[in-house]
Amino acid sequence: MVRLLIFDIDGILTDGTVSIDADGHESKAYNLTEIDALNTLRQAGYKLAAITGEDKPIVDVFQKLVPWDAFLCGCKDKVAGIRQLERQLFVSVSEICYIGDGKYDVSAIQYAGLGVAPANAIEEAKVAADIVLDGCGGKNCINELRKLLQQLSVREKGEQTVPVKNLENKGFGGPRTAMDKFKISGRIVVITGGAGLMGYNHAEAALSGGGIPVLLDISEDALVFAKGRLTEKYPEGEIVTYRADITDREALKMVRDKLLEKYGHIDALINNAANNPKMEGDAKNMGAITFENFPLSMWAADISVGLTGALFCSQVFGEQMAKQKSGVILNISSDLGVIAPDQRIYRKSGLRDEEQTVKPVTYSVIKHGLIGMTKYIATYWAEKGVRCNSLCPAGIENGQDKEFIGKLTNLVPMGRMASKDEYQSTVLYMISDASAYMTGATVIVDGGRTCW
Ligand SMILES: NC(=O)c1ccc[n+]([C@@H]2O[C@H](COP(=O)([O-])OP(=O)(O)OC[C@H]3O[C@@H](n4cnc5c(N)ncnc54)[C@H](O)[C@@H]3O)[C@@H](O)[C@H]2O)c1
Repeated sequence: MVRLLIFDIDGILTDGTVSIDADGHESKAYNLTEIDALNTLRQAGYKLAAITGEDKPIVDVFQKLVPWDAFLCGCKDKVAGIRQLERQLFVSVSEICYIGDGKYDVSAIQYAGLGVAPANAIEEAKVAADIVLDGCGGKNCINELRKLLQQLSVREKGEQTVPVKNLENKGFGGPRTAMDKFKISGRIVVITGGAGLMGYNHAEAALSGGGIPVLLDISEDALVFAKGRLTEKYPEGEIVTYRADITDREALKMVRDKLLEKYGHIDALINNAANNPKMEGDAKNMGAITFENFPLSMWAADISVGLTGALFCSQVFGEQMAKQKSGVILNISSDLGVIAPDQRIYRKSGLRDEEQTVKPVTYSVIKHGLIGMTKYIATYWAEKGVRCNSLCPAGIENGQDKEFIGKLTNLVPMGRMASKDEYQSTVLYMISDASAYMTGATVIVDGGRTCW
């Protein structure tokens, strides 16, 4: 499906000729019906952009002719220009149609999902193009393109099966495939606790879909380490990190503003950060804290990150999504967001009851609470195009002792814990258009544990 049309100016909006008067002033002619066609395309919902190698004053005239979504002047590397527009206008390359006629356009015509050349383009441009129009630049090529796109959109809606010139082999002229919908090219994906075990894997999920992960974490060292690993694995990818405490709303607003300044949009938020009590093996950080003596300070600290932090992030980043009328929030809950912890698996032999460590009550409250917040946000912003869902992962195997793993896996029908990267594909599904009709849902990926 084409969403963005990018035009070369000379040879497309004009016929490529330049007249010079006696005083040396240049002039170029354009056809008003072609400008009308551009406006019609815009009304039909296409984004419009121009990339021209020129930066002379005459270019201003063309910039003012149409309400362009973007206009790049003096840009001879047109593929770099298209890449910039993918990020800026939030479209993937497969959704871009580029039309050009000259030598600087050839690689752009090849790169764009749909490459088009007018009848009077140079031979290399015509060879590279998916469609060579009958019309010429500056005369009628834009009107012809408009009609073609109209035919395409009718076909995509399944209302007509008439083949559209030259497009049958390019994947155009039919609905986006299921796999296409997993692409999140250029989309900004904010991940809280992004430098932790799961946060890192959420970032990989975003990168593998072509998105730009933005890792927020309180640990600077962990951020540097995570960025290094991600860069090594995805050298082409863009990875952004910010040291930020999600319990500080002002800090989140600063991150949002910086992202908007650079990219102009925020497309997904994964509320993932939590105070994660280490319960297993020799881990000491829970000590012998039972439900009866659970301290208020720990209650407040856990709720502050797990629930209040998720609330602040949803407010700050979600508000922007509602303004954009698109975006998705994914709350990382847990299998313990739908069932109670089985305290028997955390017990250690030889200790009295009051000395035993228990999974803290805050874990249950936060994980159940996130599912409630998910349903609230999903319905609150449904009409604004913001979706919100919960993912309930179960325990990831990550060096726990054998006794613990044995007790836990006994509770799992599949008989094992999850591996570290095993949630990536579900996360990509939930933050991409692949899950476009899903909101308010609780997706449980737990090897079957909650069935028992
Ligand atoms: N690991 C599992 O087995 C598992 C299973 C189910 C659910 N979950 C959930 O997945 C999420 C991630 O878990 P994990 O195992 O990756 O934990 P983790 O401890 O590895 O990562 C959590 C990250 O959050 C960061 N963080 C903590 N407080 C923060 C704050 N105030 N602001 C910004 N960042 C902060 C930490 O620095 C850390 O990098 C948690 O919500 C957890 O409850 C994990």
